[in-house]
Amino acid sequence: MSAHGSAGVAGSIERLGVVGCGLMGSGIAEVAARSGLDVVVREPTSELLEAGRARIEGSMARAVEREKMTAAERDGAWGRLRFVTELGQLADRDFVIEAIVEDADVKRKLFSALDGVCGAATVFASNTSSLPITDMAAATSRADRFVGLHFFNPVPVVTLVEVVRTVAVSADTMTRTFALAERLGKVAIVAKDQSGFVVNLLLVPYLLDAVRQLERGAAGVRDIDLGMTLACGHPMGPLTLCDFVGIDTLYRVSEIMYGEYREERYAPPPLLKRLVAMGRLGKKSGQGFYDWQAPEPRPLGL
Ligand code: CAA
Ligand code: NAD
Repeated sequence: MSAHGSAGVAGSIERLGVVGCGLMGSGIAEVAARSGLDVVVREPTSELLEAGRARIEGSMARAVEREKMTAAERDGAWGRLRFVTELGQLADRDFVIEAIVEDADVKRKLFSALDGVCGAATVFASNTSSLPITDMAAATSRADRFVGLHFFNPVPVVTLVEVVRTVAVSADTMTRTFALAERLGKVAIVAKDQSGFVVNLLLVPYLLDAVRQLERGAAGVRDIDLGMTLACGHPMGPLTLCDFVGIDTLYRVSEIMYGEYREERYAPPPLLKRLVAMGRLGKKSGQGFYDWQAPEPRPLGL
């Protein structure tokens, strides 16, 4: 049950579209298919689509292995997923969640195109980490049917979602979004439409401070992480979490938040930029602060 109550209207969203099948889009699509929704997932090329499909397949295989679902449930969920490259194939969706690269222009362009493709009743949602939702809604003719729906990584595990309320969104859209979150087994909180919403406003400066500590030579990668796991009971240290989020995504998020607030605590540390330049994007590329290809994650030289 969401923190704001929404029973009774869950049936109104059955056909979901997910645009982007990377780290987050694949998790959102998987959870939705496992919750019984009919899901269409879009990536722009067949190669990217294949990589996204493999991500979902691997995650479901792991869930079956760990007895989180049966093979029959996996087959049922798999049957509710369709993978496409054409945006036009999202035309009949009740609700479309965007989870593409954290770039304002690319997202606005996508939403403007989707606006011409989907029916008038379709609700649009962005999973952005740091971009104000209103700026994307303004690229469409449906600001009243446009909301922020921010999931957390890994999507199958983390139960929170932030539902972002803009000045233009309708009460009906908010109600339907809460119903969807509940249907997906998530607990929803409402956030104001400000860069970073609630969670990232607190989490991102913490992650960036850990990178700054490393830059200043306060301690090594493993010791900074052990400090926060063992002393504070965090499930993973901040530099491991940077690798989980994706160094490229964190760098973009930091630039966006710094651009918005002009406060130093959001400014991207130069080391993040260097890692992006080297293609060390974290777990998804195999290396970031750690080498994820080693049998046990191993801190890398910087
Ligand atoms: N997909 C599905 N299930 C997964 C998973 C994945 N990618 N990763 C882990 N799990 C499951 C495991 O199957 C396991 O389940 P059981 O205990 O029932 O078997 C459970 O999660 C714990 O996993 P592990 O034992 O392998 O490892 P762990 O105890 O270290 O937990 C973790 C892994 C769940 C990722 C945990 O370390 C954690 O919660 N870390 C913090 C995550 C976090 O902070 N997320 C927010 C990131 S910020 C963000 O998302 C917002 C943004 O805009 C950037
Ligand atoms: P990612 O790099 O893993 O995946 C992005 C995917 O979008 C890629 O597969 C890419 O091919 C695809 N893509 C790019 N342009 C596209 C387009 N025009 N149409 C369709 N697909 C396109 O990134 P991610 O970590 O999944 O992040 C996606 C979004 O979710 C970002 O806005 C990010 O800020 C947000 N987010 C990320 C996290 C996280 O921990 N990584 C958590 C919450 C929210």
